[in-house]
Amino acid sequence: MPDQKRVLLKVIVLGDSGVGKTSLMNQYVNKKFREQYKATIGADFVTKELQVDDKHVTLQIWDTAGQERFQSLGAAFYRGADCCVLVYDVNAPKSFETLRKWHEEFLKQADPVDPSTFPFVVIGNKVDVEGEKNRMNNMRKAREWCDSRGNIPCIETSAKENYNVDVAFHCVAKMALTHE
Ligand code: GTP
Ligand code: MG
Repeated sequence: MPDQKRVLLKVIVLGDSGVGKTSLMNQYVNKKFREQYKATIGADFVTKELQVDDKHVTLQIWDTAGQERFQSLGAAFYRGADCCVLVYDVNAPKSFETLRKWHEEFLKQADPVDPSTFPFVVIGNKVDVEGEKNRMNNMRKAREWCDSRGNIPCIETSAKENYNVDVAFHCVAKMALTHE
């Protein structure tokens, strides 16, 4: 389609180890899920093409290591990002508490022109896990925090069951376009 606008958007995915960052990306891009955990070392990206309104978008999605000893990212890595995705596990309150830290760290490193309008998306993953009684409470707290930070979209997903994964990344693309 010759008249279409084409854009490349850089997205960075952050969050504690084990929340499912790699799994979400693998489900989104390859439609695959593995039960076995394999820690991400350093950072790597995948690309995905999608259509958002009249724009042909290529998302360049950067997966990062949640485990501190595997983190090796400098400020240069964060620069030029169009959106930052913060992932937590809806069954693990601690993974939500540290989102503030990831949020702060991102803004410090990426140093965007206007931190107050830089697009973030929060993903609460692993909603398929059964019998977790604090989940509603965790999700409510996450939503409250998102509202308090100027309406950050907050989406619950399951990478395992491919629930809301496309919806979440479509939202990421939309948010990234507001920055691009
Ligand atoms: P690091 O690379 O260490 O930062 O971890 P990560 O955030 O990339 O987590 P990863 O995607 O490797 O997933 C961690 C574990 O959780 C794996 O065993 C996955 O199979 C499992 N997992 C990921 N997403 C889901 C989900 O939606 N539901 C369930 N039940 N398990 C999940
Ligand atoms: Mg990983």
